[in-house]
Amino acid sequence: MSHTIKNATFSRSEHIVAQLADQGWCVVKDLFSLPEINALRAACQAEWEDGRFHQAAVGRAAGAARRSEIRSDSVLWLDEQSHLPAVSRYFDTMDSLRVEVNRGLYLGLSELEAHFAVYPAGSCYQKHLDRFRDDDARTLSAVLYLNQDWPDAAGGKLRLYLDPDCQQSVDICPEAGTLVLFLSDRFWHEVLPATRQRLSITGWFRRPLATMTW
Ligand code: OGA
Ligand code: MN
Repeated sequence: MSHTIKNATFSRSEHIVAQLADQGWCVVKDLFSLPEINALRAACQAEWEDGRFHQAAVGRAAGAARRSEIRSDSVLWLDEQSHLPAVSRYFDTMDSLRVEVNRGLYLGLSELEAHFAVYPAGSCYQKHLDRFRDDDARTLSAVLYLNQDWPDAAGGKLRLYLDPDCQQSVDICPEAGTLVLFLSDRFWHEVLPATRQRLSITGWFRRPLATMTW
């Protein structure tokens, strides 16, 4: 039994590595079990109802600004040492993925930063790249969706542009358990408006910043 599980896990990560090497992005549907996703959604809802989220900003540190015409979601940063079991499991699973991706792709990913995101009905996030101008540590973006029974008509898709001129794109439905991985500096993307509340965990695998030698 454990043999089968081990093989399945191994071939899934091989598949992820092959797709990332080939096209720079991939969609993974079975990294988290349904009970794990349900527990993450419940945790996200509970934190939201406790008023622990804040409106997301655009940019970083001193340059950060709230521009609700660009993005109108609210976020709650997550701690690897979280008291929420679902959240610490999320970090454990993502860390195994990090190790596998490093093994296959030599990206040198060192840590994960992640937040819950809630997009109230009607909100969006306009086309952007995940890498800040003054911080090139974000290397692989990882968005995990938590929405149960998400019909196509509810919108809220992630539109991922496949080329730098944004001529070609794929739309990804934000339904429970879908994880999207893409290279942070390469893929423009946007969140289309949804007709209902949309829940996710957005994470970025980082690598240590190179030291400047000049
Ligand atoms: C982000 C982002 C995509 C999504 O938070 O930077 O692009 O589908 N999220 O939620
Ligand atoms: Mn983004």
